[in-house]
Amino acid sequence: MDNRPIGIMDSGIGGLTVAKVLHEQYPLEGICFLGDSLRNPYGEKTQEDIVRYSFAIRDFLLRQNVKMILIACNTISFNVPPSFFAGDIPVVKMSMDVPAENAGKIGIFATPATIGTHVHKEYFRKKYPDKAVAEIPCEGLAAAIERNEGENVISALVEKALKEYHAFDIDTGVWACTHYPLIGDIFRRLLPKVSFLNPALPTVEQGMEILRSQDRLADRAQEKRFYFTADPEHAEPIVEKIFGRVKTEKAELTGV
Ligand code: DGL
Repeated sequence: MDNRPIGIMDSGIGGLTVAKVLHEQYPLEGICFLGDSLRNPYGEKTQEDIVRYSFAIRDFLLRQNVKMILIACNTISFNVPPSFFAGDIPVVKMSMDVPAENAGKIGIFATPATIGTHVHKEYFRKKYPDKAVAEIPCEGLAAAIERNEGENVISALVEKALKEYHAFDIDTGVWACTHYPLIGDIFRRLLPKVSFLNPALPTVEQGMEILRSQDRLADRAQEKRFYFTADPEHAEPIVEKIFGRVKTEKAELTGV
């Protein structure tokens, strides 16, 4: 048993979609969440910046004495070097292990920085060689979700990406950015025949399997804390919607 919190990191509110799944599946676990809202969006920054910011979040979470880190951000997961995963506690990246066996054409929705790595395309091509895979970088979308832009702005950004990458014919969509499940309804309205897959559950399960195998699950309800590097009150309604009355707090990263 280990009652220390699980660290969860993202560039902002997107990581809450992974924290939500953790909370639903493992309600006793403590959470120490850090959203770097000050520097959001990461998905349109250079790899050098993404790596620097990500190590600063990692250091912050380690100082909070977390027992594991879940990287609830695809942009971070696939842009940091192997050394990011080294150390005394497990550091778990976003999973790609979503069930796409019934797909004909898979659309990968992600930030430009995630699409630039092509990891999803390679993964799905290898796992399902008979299926078509379209990469759909959604410029500006994570930032618009973070800023809580209206539905019209957000729909227009998704539509623009679909048009630009000729992806209106996909039948399966993978949300390879943790911000995107927050606008699931907009995706479904624009693409009513498409099945959308969210890698949050397999990500949480991969992490929890490690803790379970080390007998380090929490054995009684632990505290959940939510830190943001800018405007913590902006995230409060969504945090409350998922977790009930929890205060969000301001945090500063060092070394960035
Ligand atoms: N939520 C993040 C992801 O999964 C990144 C969004 C951003 O900061 O661009 O990729």
